[in-house]
Amino acid sequence: MLNKQIESLLNKQIKHEFEAGNWYLSMSSWADVNGFEGAARFFLEQSKEENFHGMKIFHFINNREGHAKAPSVTGPDTEFNSYRHLFERSLELEKENTRLIDDLVDAAREANDHATEQFLQWYVDEQVEEEELFRSILDKLNILGDKGPGLYMLDQELGQRTADLPGNGGETE
Ligand code: FEO
Repeated sequence: MLNKQIESLLNKQIKHEFEAGNWYLSMSSWADVNGFEGAARFFLEQSKEENFHGMKIFHFINNREGHAKAPSVTGPDTEFNSYRHLFERSLELEKENTRLIDDLVDAAREANDHATEQFLQWYVDEQVEEEELFRSILDKLNILGDKGPGLYMLDQELGQRTADLPGNGGETE
């Protein structure tokens, strides 16, 4: 059974994951209206992943006799300065999420809640991957450039992305 402090922190994390999902949805829309089809697809898939991350916690709470709360989420920005800005903002979002996950792991450890600590290990690994993903895209932007054929090639590549979700053949299965 979850203690109340851990339950509350996990509920806050659900909210954060869905907020991240909304940011990525907003980025997808910005990319779409600005003609970047690849990034539009990429961020739509990223948004689905974040919602899945939130739902995984949601089920975990209720499975452990807690009470998962459907979150009220704050609205993200709708305008971005540039293609590069999308990925810089994404890396910031992921770094913030890593910090929150680390705090949650610390709290679970202090509470001797081994099940939650173990459950969170999946998120620790996921954060390493997500930060690396956005760093690698920013590296490619540096190499290929922010416009012209280089940007077109990168956008095409990003459009190949499929969310890592159960049923999609990803690691989450
Ligand atoms: Fe759910 Fe992007 O971390």
